Amino acid sequence: MELDKAIKSRSSVKKFNSKKPDWRDIIECIDAARYAPMAGGNYTLKFILVDDSEKIKQIAECCQQNFVARAHYVVVTCSVPGRLTNAYGKQGEVYARQQAGAAMENFLLKIVESGLSTCWVGYFVEEQIKKELKIPANAQIEAIFPIGYEYEKKKTRKAKIDLNNILYFNSYGQTRMNPPKKMDV
Ligand SMILES: Cc1cc2nc3c(=O)[nH]c(=O)nc-3n(C[C@H](O)[C@H](O)[C@H](O)COP(=O)(O)O)c2cc1C
Repeated sequence: MELDKAIKSRSSVKKFNSKKPDWRDIIECIDAARYAPMAGGNYTLKFILVDDSEKIKQIAECCQQNFVARAHYVVVTCSVPGRLTNAYGKQGEVYARQQAGAAMENFLLKIVESGLSTCWVGYFVEEQIKKELKIPANAQIEAIFPIGYEYEKKKTRKAKIDLNNILYFNSYGQTRMNPPKKMDV
């Protein structure tokens, strides 16, 4: 699949059909996360692939979102920012969040390419999930991805924000590109 198509066709899916994905396909999506940029080359991400249905139910409760329980697999993404904070102090915490976002977008685009579906879940009671999955205290949960095949392909896509609303030139708020300077001949 072309990159442009993967980017533009990604969307959040919360209703899955009964077909169980091949877990090896999900591993390939996680593998793509390794190629994201990492500050100073310090890799801080961990991925937990959960297929235990009881655990998935518990995770759904911790997210207070029922659709999570109906996924065949859940991927829990964590950061262990220690190496970054050792190297960069407080700024390391910011880098950990930033590179988690980059890695998770790689993962999402591979999910699209594989024909799988998911929804980024950012709301959860972190301490409960940490307990359930034995995640150590030095790790923080970044996001949770329930995974399956989409129940029914959406016919319409949510409208995306207009490019004019997010793009400035040379300074914040400037919505036009300056005309090219006249060259002296
Ligand atoms: C940081 C973050 C947190 C999110 N948390 C949730 C969530 O807890 N539950 C949920 O249903 N969707 C969640 N979403 C998905 C967004 O609601 C969704 O991406 C948005 O509505 C745009 O739709 P699209 O993904 O189909 O383009 C989250 C997305 C992001 C990036």
